[in-house]
Amino acid sequence: MDALPKIRTLAVMTAGGDAPGMNPCIRAVVRTALHYEMKVLGVMGGFDGLIRGNFIPLGARDVGGILQRGGTILQTARSKTFLEPAAQQEALRQLNAAGVDALVIIGGGGSQRGALALHQRGVPVVGVPASIDNDIYGTDICIGVDTALNTIVDAIDKLRDTASSHNRAFLVETMGHESGYLALQAGIISGAELVLIPEIETSVEAVAQAIQDAYRRGKTHAIIVAAEGARPSVTELASQIDEMEVGFTMRVTILGHIQRGGKPSAFDRLLASRLGTKAVEFLHQGRSGVMVGLSGREVVAVDLAEVAARKRDLPLEYYQMAITLAR
Ligand code: F6P
Repeated sequence: MDALPKIRTLAVMTAGGDAPGMNPCIRAVVRTALHYEMKVLGVMGGFDGLIRGNFIPLGARDVGGILQRGGTILQTARSKTFLEPAAQQEALRQLNAAGVDALVIIGGGGSQRGALALHQRGVPVVGVPASIDNDIYGTDICIGVDTALNTIVDAIDKLRDTASSHNRAFLVETMGHESGYLALQAGIISGAELVLIPEIETSVEAVAQAIQDAYRRGKTHAIIVAAEGARPSVTELASQIDEMEVGFTMRVTILGHIQRGGKPSAFDRLLASRLGTKAVEFLHQGRSGVMVGLSGREVVAVDLAEVAARKRDLPLEYYQMAITLAR
């Protein structure tokens, strides 16, 4: 049997929107690679940095003290340039010039498509899913989702305090890109009256009705959680719902980028450590062109082509659960 081609130099990068847990994942990749006697390079600034050949050496001490830090020490960017074949060819040239034998890419759906593009150009690559949106096919959960949910729930708990004191309804917008995952989970665990998600159409009247029902049931507040991709938007709702009719005065809170920051939760640190370790182990075993993901309790490998081609379904039974539990 042929011996596996040995990886002497491994590169690791983060791309797309940052997610809490990227740092523990970088740490796991670097230290596992060192365990297998690989030299490690970090790519600074995502795919744009790769095109520029912006590599830094990474040793065990360089990733010390980052387990608990949000963001990414390698920095990240949303690269439009990398969509162009010429830019991908240049990235390949930079990888070869730096002597990189394999690459780990930590990021969201766009980053996994970027990983596939490099794989198709012959680079041994493994993707790691990291995005608070949880919209990537092939994994039950992405790095960053748990921390973001904790941030959202903490914020809504605080909003409920002030909402109750003032007899108000709060329209709270979460992130999520085109997915309702964050909003739906957050709605259930924060006791929202109604959740608005892009996957299910809702009318202004239905939202007004939910707020009015809460008022009539004697609640001192109402919380509506809306995903950023849902329509009508929270601002449209606030301008169209008649406060006199629904009983509560209303306020809008857009949670925004605080959802992407903060120290990673225990769950995210463990997930990031497991996925980062496995990504390097796969490469060490000669396996590439895959994304590592969590399926049940197991870390699995999913072909990058499948990840890129398929859409992650939202478990819609949670939608009814959110409504039932809001009584
Ligand atoms: O993909 C993660 C995400 O936070 C989305 O939820 C949101 O739509 C987007 O990134 C915001 O992107 P940016 O940081 O470029 O404003």
